[in-house]
Amino acid sequence: MFNLILFGPPGSGKGTQSEKLITQYGLKHLSTGDLLRSEIAGKTPLGIEAKAIMDKGHLVPDEVVIGMISSALEANPHAKGFLFDGFPRTSTQAEALDKLLDLKKTSIAAMIALAVSEEELVKRLLKRGETSGRSDDINEGIVRERLVEYHKKTSVVADYYKQFDKVVVIAGEGTVDEIFARLCKEIDGILNNK
Ligand code: AP5
Repeated sequence: MFNLILFGPPGSGKGTQSEKLITQYGLKHLSTGDLLRSEIAGKTPLGIEAKAIMDKGHLVPDEVVIGMISSALEANPHAKGFLFDGFPRTSTQAEALDKLLDLKKTSIAAMIALAVSEEELVKRLLKRGETSGRSDDINEGIVRERLVEYHKKTSVVADYYKQFDKVVVIAGEGTVDEIFARLCKEIDGILNNK
């Protein structure tokens, strides 16, 4: 199995690049944001609870997202590997992911972090908010709150993987294709060294 984490702040291009990477490398895409939005669309109790938190730009509780990822791993026993997008977002989630993968006798090969300036992140998210209907993109206050949460709780997740020498930082500005080419170059290098 080959498992990757695509990491970076809100708006860094994780979702956009994940779509291309799963086709290129035959991985199963696991995005906790997408899983939560599908609960919201289904108006499930979990979705209703999560929406109130997401609309403030805050993180939903660890046990909720860890449970979702655990179910998704169980539901895909024959996957060639997983591409995690938007997860793990706290140290607790990172430790839980390691344990879940350990049970499957596999692990994270690398965390690839997209580096994008704060100004560009805000610009991208507000632009998407004009048309996407995503309630957490509609005003600058919520977008900035998501970035505050990222710096407060999520950026430390990179330190967790750094201790195992698994972090690669990629410049996340430029065209989508340019960034994709940079990602593929790194991933091909990791695969060749396996
Ligand atoms: P989530 O859905 O994970 O959103 P996010 O991390 O805030 O990131 P985005 O999806 O907004 O950005 P992205 O990096 O994927 O970039 P994208 O490709 O979309 O999480 C939403 C919420 O769910 C969280 O706030 C939290 O409440 C909750 N949640 C999710 N996971 C959780 C977890 N593990 N624990 C707790 N809570 C959790 O691109 C953004 C925009 O930029 C798009 O319009 C795109 O077209 C554009 N764009 C992309 N690349 C480029 C480029 N190169 N140049 C110009 N524009 C570009």
